[in-house]
Amino acid sequence: MLEVKDGRKTSVEEARLVTLPRIDIESGSITVINSGIDVEFNIKRVYYLYDVPNRSDRGAHAHKELFQLILAASGSYEVELDDSIEKRSFILRQPDEGLLIPPGLWRDLKQFSGGAICLVLASLPYSEKDYIRSYNEFILWKR
Ligand code: TYD
Repeated sequence: MLEVKDGRKTSVEEARLVTLPRIDIESGSITVINSGIDVEFNIKRVYYLYDVPNRSDRGAHAHKELFQLILAASGSYEVELDDSIEKRSFILRQPDEGLLIPPGLWRDLKQFSGGAICLVLASLPYSEKDYIRSYNEFILWKR
């Protein structure tokens, strides 16, 4: 189980795509994410971004301790991760494919398609103290 990690040492190589279970039936599909089973942390919070203006950007921060699994419940968007040395980009467009983001990575969310929904499963409750919102501060923290 992923619960605690020193985010200062995290590299972008540690982020990974996770194929989620899906059940296809004639009337549509369903994906179920069980806390601690289909995602390797206990889910403490769920939130989603929607009504994002076409092609606009979100994110632009890092988390010190938070693990997240993010996916496109609808539409698509791009996620750019940065560990202060290397960058890595992912395009999320399938509701049954999640991106596991460990703590300690700067993230920019870009290129939202019309109607996109970014669903986020998070390992901790909301705390502004867990955020680094200045890129310069992030670079210093990673040293
Ligand atoms: P933020 O995480 O900065 O948004 P994003 O990364 O998606 O662009 O959050 C936007 C606002 O919402 C900010 O004022 C904090 C608030 N917020 C909460 O109150 N609780 C939460 O769980 C989250 C994720 C955000």
